[in-house]
This record gives sequence, C-alpha cells and structure tokens, in this order.
Amino acid sequence: MSTKLSNDTFIPLKSNLLDKSTSKYEALYGHIKEAIFNGRLKTNDKLPSSRYLSKLLGISRNSILTAYELLLSEGFIESRQGSGTFVADAVDLKPLLGSGTNIRFTSSSIHVSKIGQRVNATDLLSPVKAVPLERKESVFLPAQPAMDCFPYKEWQSAVTKSLRNPSAFSEQPVMGVCLLREQIQEFLLITRGVRCHADDIMITSGSQQALSIVLNLLVSDGDNVLLEDIGFKGIDAVLSSLGAVQMTLTVDEQGICFDKLSEVCQQAKTLVLTPSRSFPLGHTLSLQRRLSILEWAYETQGWVIEDDYDSEFIFSGHSIASLQGLDSGGRVIYTGTYSRTMFPGIRLGYIVLPPVLVPLFNKFKRIVDGGISAQQQVAMGLFMQSGAYSRHLRRMRKLYKKRKAILDPLMQQMLPMLSLIPSEGGMHSVYHFQGGQDDVAIAREANQYGLGVRPLSSYQRNDVTKHASYSGLIIGYAGTTEEHIQKGVIKLRHIIDDFCKKS
Ligand SMILES: Cc1ncc(COP(=O)(O)O)c(C=O)c1O
Repeated sequence: MSTKLSNDTFIPLKSNLLDKSTSKYEALYGHIKEAIFNGRLKTNDKLPSSRYLSKLLGISRNSILTAYELLLSEGFIESRQGSGTFVADAVDLKPLLGSGTNIRFTSSSIHVSKIGQRVNATDLLSPVKAVPLERKESVFLPAQPAMDCFPYKEWQSAVTKSLRNPSAFSEQPVMGVCLLREQIQEFLLITRGVRCHADDIMITSGSQQALSIVLNLLVSDGDNVLLEDIGFKGIDAVLSSLGAVQMTLTVDEQGICFDKLSEVCQQAKTLVLTPSRSFPLGHTLSLQRRLSILEWAYETQGWVIEDDYDSEFIFSGHSIASLQGLDSGGRVIYTGTYSRTMFPGIRLGYIVLPPVLVPLFNKFKRIVDGGISAQQQVAMGLFMQSGAYSRHLRRMRKLYKKRKAILDPLMQQMLPMLSLIPSEGGMHSVYHFQGGQDDVAIAREANQYGLGVRPLSSYQRNDVTKHASYSGLIIGYAGTTEEHIQKGVIKLRHIIDDFCKKS
C-alpha cells in the first residue's frame, strides 16, 4: 500500500480560496473532490495533516477539518488510526470517470428518440439568428407591450391578494385554476364570441406550449398539415419534431387562400392558422373562407387550430369574431396568450377545446407538466375579475393606435422605398421593399444600432420559392414611445441609405 504524502498538485492556490462567493471549507472540499475525480489524487494517497494545510494555505484548521469531515462522510477519504487521512480505497471511480477516457458526447452521437433526433436537426432560432440583436435596447422589436404604461399597481395588488388566497397554495386541477378559467370563458365570449364552458379551457405556459400540446396529440409522423405560407416559426419547429409534412397556402388581403376543393386541402386533415390577424401580415380572414374551412373540417373530420394571436388589438370597429364561435361541429381548437396583453415573461396562455378532446388533453397535461404555477394563475384571475385587465386593454388599444398613427406616415415620408401593408391593428406594422431588397442584410445592419427590426422574409415558410413581396421589414411600435419612434425612423433612414449606397 502506498502511503506517500500526496504531492502539492491538488493543493489549491490561495487565490482559489479567496473567492468570496464560496466559503473556504467548500472551496477546499470541491478542490480535493475534483482532484480525486480527475486522478490527480489516487486511492491510498495520503492527505496532508490539517495543521500543515492550515499553515500552508493560511486558513483556519476548522475550515480544513470541516472539508475533511464532509469528504469522510461521503466516503471519498478515510481516516486510518495512527496513520492519517487517505483517499479511500473502496472508491471505484471508473464509472464517474468514463472508464478513464476523456469521452465527450456531442448532440449527434448520443442515442435519443426519433423526436429527439428531429429536434436536434431543427434550427429553432432561425429567424432570430439571421438577425442578431446586438443591443439590449431594441427600439422596434415586435411583440413588446408598452411596459412604460403597464398598470403595475393594479397588478401588484392582484399578486398580493393571490398570496392571501388559499387556492394559490393548494394543488390545482391539471387543466388550470378554476377562477382563471371562468374569467377566460367570460372574456372570450364577450370579446371574441368564443362559445365554451370553463371546463373546456386548459391553462398553458403560453401559446407555444398550447400549440405544441395540440399538435402532439393530433398530428402523427407523415401527416400533412396546412399552414399559411408566412407565419410564426414556432409552429414549424413543433411540426418538424413530429415528422409532419408542411403544406403551405398563400395569404392575401382576405387571409389564407383556402379552397376546400383544391388537391392540397384534400390531402390534409389539420389546418393551423391566424384568422383574426394573420401573422405577421395582419390580414383578416374573410367570412367566405371561414365557412369553406369549417365545411372542409366537417367533411374530412379534420382539425382547425386557431391561433388567435394579438386579436385584442384591433383598432377600428368591432374585431371579427373567432372562427371557434362559428363552429357548430366541434372541429376548432382555439389558442390564446397573455404574452402580448400583459407581458412576455408572464408565460400564461390557454387552449379552448371541443369537449370531446378534454379527457385526452387532461391526461396528456398530467404527463407534460402537471399544471402551471397556481399563484400566478390566481393573480391573473383576480386581475381580470377586478376589471383591471379590460381597462388595461382599452388603454393599450388607444395607445397602440396612436403609436401606429405616428409611425406609418413617418415611414412613408422618410422611407418611400418601403410600402406599408395595410392593417387595422396589432403591435407591429409590416413594410414591403418594392425593389425586393435584401431585407435580412438590412435588418442585420439596423440591429447593430439597436433598432430590433425583423426581416419579413425570415417568416416565410417555403424558402424554395421566395415570394417577392415577402421582402420587407416588421417594425414593432407598441412598446416604443413617440420620441423613440421618431428617432428610430430617422436612424433607419440613414442605415438604409448607407446600405443602398454600398450595394
Ligand atoms: C403567431 C404567434 N403565435 C404564437 C406565439 C407564441 O406566443 P407565446 O409567447 O404565448 O408562447 C407567437 C410568438 O411570437 C406568435 O408570433
């Protein structure tokens, strides 16, 4: 048995122990353990006496003894009567050391499920990656609510009240807190014409989770799924993870060009769309197409997934009611979110299900996560019940309308090469480059200066046949003050002028 005093290789540099964030005994404990793991300290190596180490490192003997005691209690070292402290010989570290070799797994070499393999192959960040946001302050970043006008006091009061509410602390139905589901049912009936019972509503961590759950339960590997040819890429990621085949339909001023008799529509049984305000163009689906979609769903026993994204912000007249409200056959699944109406970090959304699907979704949610934070749901329910949510929406509608009314004419005046795609609401405006300029390159350039604009083409679904009119910029105005809108447009003008001169 070797009883050599371990050499100094494992002894930490004093500077390691000066790190204020961990206590000295923790630092020493971690250091010795790491030395054992990586083989610098071997079985039967003798550790220095606590007195010696204390002198050497200039830390108290108590710290050394505490570190040793921890290692002793975990079985990494052992104390031998009359001889000192040694690295334990019972420890076979081979499994921890990966058989002594330096194996480093890469995401492509590990064994994962079919879904795991498809997720690995998915480029989740593609639209964002194409245009890095170099700076934090992004003037025109879409989907940013006006946090400068958020009713913090009323929200704080709802949160405080939620902390006094026993149901915030008890186990909740997996579908979500009853108070919130009842508030959503009432709200959706009045504002969106959605007809449902509170029991048909499932609370999710936003629309992304809502869409993911719906598609996971209704779409199989190899199924054809109909989509708008420009839209939210979070849906594409879910579909590719499932191995579904995406079939796209053009979007015009009347929304998705759906013809139930067309070959493409006959080949699919699932349609995902944004009928109230097509994302990102902002077109409203015509009644004729709505009816055609419902007829198709009844005839094919198909599913229609209605992503009612930012429909809360329609500025003129009444917003057109939801597709779900027209559906008498239980084929429409409706999803919504608080990310835009409250704030993105709230991570709360919902699904309205045809009753026949409720038991299946309930079971699946139990498998996925067992429910969303009850306290946050109670706070949201109380905020709605007090009337604060409706008041907030009314104020934001007015404010966003005003901000859009500043942005659009200014853009027209300063950047005539961009033409506005007309839309009656939302949180962003879409402008089309008449000359088909390289919108990705321009957006990348603009974002170096903190503008946060998005290139329209990065939302296009089938890259193969680039739609000429999908070269443009998406400019968020909801979260931007009047002053910043003006400065931002001037900055954008300079950037585009310089870009055009260079190219
Ligand atoms: C059209 C559309 N649907 C759904 C989502 C997802 O929203 P959430 O933040 O609720 O997950 C987004 C996000 O930008 C979106 O643009």
